[in-house]
Amino acid sequence: MTYAAESTDPAIDPAISIVVPTYREAENIPYLIDRIESMLRENHLDAELLILDDNSPDRTADVVRELARPWVRLIVRTKDRGLGPAVVDGMRAARAKTLVVMDADLSHPPEKVPEMLTALDKGFQFVIGSRYVHGSSTDESWGALRWINSKVATLLARPFTNVRDPMSGFLALRRETFQQADYLNPVGYKIGLELLVKCRVETVHEVPIHFANRKYGESKLTLIEQLKYLQHLRRLFIYKYFEWTHLPQFIVIGASGVILNMAVLTGLLWIDAPVRAAVAIAIVVSMLSNFVLNRRFTFSYARADSWWRQLIGFCGASSIGALVNYSVTAYALDAWTTIPQAAALIGIVAGMFFNFVISRYWVFRRVGRQHILSIKKRA
Ligand code: GDD
Ligand code: MN
Repeated sequence: MTYAAESTDPAIDPAISIVVPTYREAENIPYLIDRIESMLRENHLDAELLILDDNSPDRTADVVRELARPWVRLIVRTKDRGLGPAVVDGMRAARAKTLVVMDADLSHPPEKVPEMLTALDKGFQFVIGSRYVHGSSTDESWGALRWINSKVATLLARPFTNVRDPMSGFLALRRETFQQADYLNPVGYKIGLELLVKCRVETVHEVPIHFANRKYGESKLTLIEQLKYLQHLRRLFIYKYFEWTHLPQFIVIGASGVILNMAVLTGLLWIDAPVRAAVAIAIVVSMLSNFVLNRRFTFSYARADSWWRQLIGFCGASSIGALVNYSVTAYALDAWTTIPQAAALIGIVAGMFFNFVISRYWVFRRVGRQHILSIKKRA
């Protein structure tokens, strides 16, 4: 563990754990605690507040200690700084069955928490305090630039979720949903998106909020953090669509093989090589090139396995693939079309598909499972 917990009272398990990451929020903390306290009192809710401070130089942690609320747990982190990792640590340390995550700067109104809990009770797995549903608003001073920025980021998340505000950091979920995640790796700011994808969330409800501007201090969402979002998207893509990344690479490399074949053939004929030999050499060269490229890129997860075994398998599969290609072309000419080129195309697609399936699930199968797990773990 990268943190030391303070002021814990393990005697009672609260109904809700509210997780708040902080970095340089000393001025906001007293207001935050006050507002959460009133909200809890008015709704007869019993909660613990977990503050995950990354050892802020502005003495945020001291302010929390001085306020000395028994229901507030302070966790000072000294490693792996960042909003996402802090939130994950907080959720792991939480004792309640219901988890709420929010910012410390009062952009997220605590008064909306009861409405979010009601949605959880109704059966939704995941509830978002949302800026982009009917009834939401953002502070007037939100410039066009921030708005566009946020919209583009949301659009980029479309392959993973349809929710209106997947960038929000105001969340509620049950602990069991959180525990469904295999490997959380929240680079950057988008912890909500990470949880939506990796906890395999199926039902989401968005509660409209007014997103207020922070009164004190400044945002830590720098350009570097925004660039990390692209890295985060790439990881999520590998995580979610791993199986679908192979075929397009295989096709591109196959196409490069065709071009290479033509080039070698043309070159050999140009230096007056015998036609049959030129054709044969062009086939061998393109097959070898396909092998090397596929081993390096498409099926790189199997690189630890012996290359000569794979080479024999690949060439074998390609030869049978050529036979498949030939037979399907012949069949197509009989049954479907009189145009030889069209028949040949159908044959090529069939042969290529055959090659792909054999390559993916036989030639480059070994080591795969273990390695795929480790790729996903890192994603
Ligand atoms: N522990 C820890 N470590 N907390 C951090 C860190 C860090 O490195 N960086 C920021 N935080 C805390 C802040 O103290 C605050 O409580 C919360 O995370 C949000 O940080 P802000 O700096 O206020 O971010 P923002 O207002 O620009 O971004 C908010 O809105 C975005 C959508 O526009 C956040 O809610 C984002 O998650 C959200 O994507
Ligand atoms: Mn903020």
